Amino acid sequence: MEYQAKELFAKHDVPVTLGTVVEKADDAAAAAEANGGRVVVKAQVKIGGRGKAGGVKLAEDPDEAVARANDILGMDIKGHTVHRVLIAPTADIAEEYYFSFLVDRANRNYLCIASIEGGVEIEEVARTNPDAVAKVSIDPGTGVDDAKAAEIVAATRFPAEVADEAKDVVKKLWKVFIEEDASLVEVNPLVRLGDGHLEALDGKVTLDENADFRHPDHAQFEDKAAADPLEAQAKEKGLNYVKLDGEVGIIGNGAGLVMSTLDVVAYAGEAHSGVKPANFLDIGGGASAEVMANGLHIILGDPQVKSVFVNVFGGITACDAVANGIVHALELLGDEANKPLVVRLDGNNVEEGRRILDDANHPLVTLVDTMDGAADRAAELAAK
Ligand SMILES: Nc1ncnc2c1ncn2[C@@H]1O[C@H](COP(=O)(O)OP(=O)(O)OP(=O)(O)O)[C@@H](O)[C@H]1O
Ligand SMILES: [Mg+2]
Repeated sequence: MEYQAKELFAKHDVPVTLGTVVEKADDAAAAAEANGGRVVVKAQVKIGGRGKAGGVKLAEDPDEAVARANDILGMDIKGHTVHRVLIAPTADIAEEYYFSFLVDRANRNYLCIASIEGGVEIEEVARTNPDAVAKVSIDPGTGVDDAKAAEIVAATRFPAEVADEAKDVVKKLWKVFIEEDASLVEVNPLVRLGDGHLEALDGKVTLDENADFRHPDHAQFEDKAAADPLEAQAKEKGLNYVKLDGEVGIIGNGAGLVMSTLDVVAYAGEAHSGVKPANFLDIGGGASAEVMANGLHIILGDPQVKSVFVNVFGGITACDAVANGIVHALELLGDEANKPLVVRLDGNNVEEGRRILDDANHPLVTLVDTMDGAADRAAELAAK
């Protein structure tokens, strides 16, 4: 969120005014008082286009700040409910610029995108006047040194009066990008104030979760309230789970296999009242009874799920170990296992794996040999 991005900016000396975050409209009066009386009230949600959606409003005095906070708190901005607003001093804006650093995957390096025609219409500028948007690639080996900062400032055509300060801000934003392990640092608008100085009036930062281990302080940025409860549970258990909108629960091992499973289930569902996959869940290579039980527990906790498709390709963990995992998981779950399971096993030790499931003869389990066949059966059971 903007206020969190600004905290990261402040940590690296990027010029910002932090303001005050409030969750209750009544608290906006004191917050406005503390920020100079004349303030902006800004919705704090992890989505762009807040201003255009009516989530950024000026207030002339503390009373008006309360009124605007009342308007904005509880608003729905593109599916995000506003639980907090930032009360910040109104800036004396002379010009609005756009600035960002991001990962340029196609070219395997970093990219700076910047424009002196920033503000809420930047997407429109990029569409109608692409020449006004500078793109400067950055070699990860050298990063943004003095020469690269000068190149970026020249390419963006920052006005001469702010060029030196812009180089400095560019280098500081680069520090945010690299030292915080971000995949995106965006400032829109970066403004030139009436007094000639630059300030980041907005901020958006995407942090790379894979680097969380070296940033214990990033845990504070996680929005637990907004996370799906099943996704939060899965995360606690170390499972890669994403909730989707359908009826067929999916468990597989390996992200690629699970992605293809979503596809075949969606396709099979077309012939069965349009049922769809209910989730993505990759249990990884191990597939022990405990991991299988954890996975099933999460999926069965989704009231929308009508059937479950377990699609496992035995590799280093062979099919017999996975089959034992399924049998023991069902024992562990007891009455909680109450929806039909379609299991497709293939790969290492498949015969033994199938024999184990046949012998267990669990009333909820159907074995199907092929992936398409199993998808069809799972969709059919979900549609019933
Ligand atoms: N502190 C401020 N003082 C004066 N005007 C402001 C201030 N903050 C924002 N504004 C004005 O409101 C506009 C929109 O604000 P902001 O960039 O924070 O929201 P947004 O761009 O709509 O949101 P997002 O970046 O999430 O899409 C800015 O371009 C600027 O003109
Ligand atoms: Mg903005």
